[in-house]
Amino acid sequence: MVEMKLNAHEKKGTISRYLYGQFAEHLGRCIYEGIWVGKDSPIPNIEGIRIDVLEALKKLHIPVLRWPGGCFADEYHWMDGIGPASERARMINNNWGGVEENNHFGTHEFLRLCELLETEPYISGNVGSGTVREMQQWVEYMTFDGESPMANLRKENGQDKPWSLQFFGVGNENWGCGGNMRPEYYADLYRHYSTYVRNYGDNKVYKIACGANTDDYHWTEVMMREAGGLMDGLSLHYYTLPTGNWLGSKGSSTDFETNEWFSTMKNTLYMEELIVKHSKIMDKYDPEGRVGLIVDEWGTWFDVEPGTNPGFLYQQNTLRDALIAGINLNIFQKYSKRVKMANIAQVVNVLQAMVLTEGDNMLLTPTYHVFEMYKVHQDAELLDVAFESPLYTYGAQSIPQLSVSASINTDGAIHLSACNLHHAENTTVSCHIDGAEGKKVSGRILTHTSLNEHNTFEQPERVAPVNFEGVTLQNGHLQFEMPPASVVVLTLE
Ligand code: AHR
Repeated sequence: MVEMKLNAHEKKGTISRYLYGQFAEHLGRCIYEGIWVGKDSPIPNIEGIRIDVLEALKKLHIPVLRWPGGCFADEYHWMDGIGPASERARMINNNWGGVEENNHFGTHEFLRLCELLETEPYISGNVGSGTVREMQQWVEYMTFDGESPMANLRKENGQDKPWSLQFFGVGNENWGCGGNMRPEYYADLYRHYSTYVRNYGDNKVYKIACGANTDDYHWTEVMMREAGGLMDGLSLHYYTLPTGNWLGSKGSSTDFETNEWFSTMKNTLYMEELIVKHSKIMDKYDPEGRVGLIVDEWGTWFDVEPGTNPGFLYQQNTLRDALIAGINLNIFQKYSKRVKMANIAQVVNVLQAMVLTEGDNMLLTPTYHVFEMYKVHQDAELLDVAFESPLYTYGAQSIPQLSVSASINTDGAIHLSACNLHHAENTTVSCHIDGAEGKKVSGRILTHTSLNEHNTFEQPERVAPVNFEGVTLQNGHLQFEMPPASVVVLTLE
């Protein structure tokens, strides 16, 4: 039995809703097919955006959507993607499969998608192969209200009023696909490019600098030292691979044994160490915590589904992905003083997706369900939860078995999200609540007896949340029993 104490008096700051952000890149079937089918498609759409996916994503209350990449961003020239679709430039998507990109989904289409989703756009600008002028003009095009060459061009293209644009990334992975730069060089480029990312009128841009790959602490050190005062956010990218190794096979998304289940859990928990260590460097240069750590790419990365284009990064999504989602969201919440945004990669048909599509079929993944269950934490106050997790031991290695986070919302409802990482063992939690008078408890659980269970187009509801009956509330005391490999969200009102 795990003894837990939840202290509702001890509010530890707001959990930014932007921790629940998503990412949509021009990669494989994410944008084309997954989101954009075009106005003439037989698949029901609103102005070219498929309705089934749109409606499913709306239910997640996505707070922010990053676009157009990823690696694609540093080869993207935004002017190719405006004006009449038939006249737009065709290009090669060099990063992802070498396929043709017809630019039918561009700035107007993306910002329309954001309006329909009621989400904030987060645009990644091109530093690797774009000019300062190009970046300056893009921001002017989107946000300037008045008479100017770019505002006039926008109006000619049918958008009279400027959009509001809060988040802008100055390059992506500039240590790799975004130009193979050294941090010293990129820090200067960041200072240079970001100068021209202007605030027009009331539009205030939150500028995000390219941050480190995984444990490249030197990158964070240099960026904070040389450019920390000129940025609002610094990114971090970390993907969970079962093997932890980029060379060779990364492992199948569906065909795995308990050893890979364990190693995937272990590797994903590394996110906490990364956040702690990068934050420590940021604290040195920014003790007030003004600069946000923006984990704008995270999630699982497996081998692509057999028979699919290796450049399209299409993978299935099992109960294992659900656990990975829950664990990482709990970690981001724990460090929400510094972590101000996170964007799982990616929203549709790529890597750890929310939604998969095939023709006019669509399914919701186990990861989707976790985001839907956890959305109750968005903008709530983080609460202190004290407990000592039992260990999950596999061979000679051990990790914590339980991952937990709790919050209280403005109506006084408490939500507790818990993941049991163990592939075979239950865990029973006895949780004492201090400082809140909960009268009733309810909950939902996502689990399955088979670790690699997943939804298919034929059976799209094999893994879906159900009401959780295994919880009781007596005299301010919650008791619940979690089956192996499960994600639970409780509501105490
Ligand atoms: O999300 C897929 C790719 O992973 C992105 O394009 C890139 O930024 C990262 O390496």
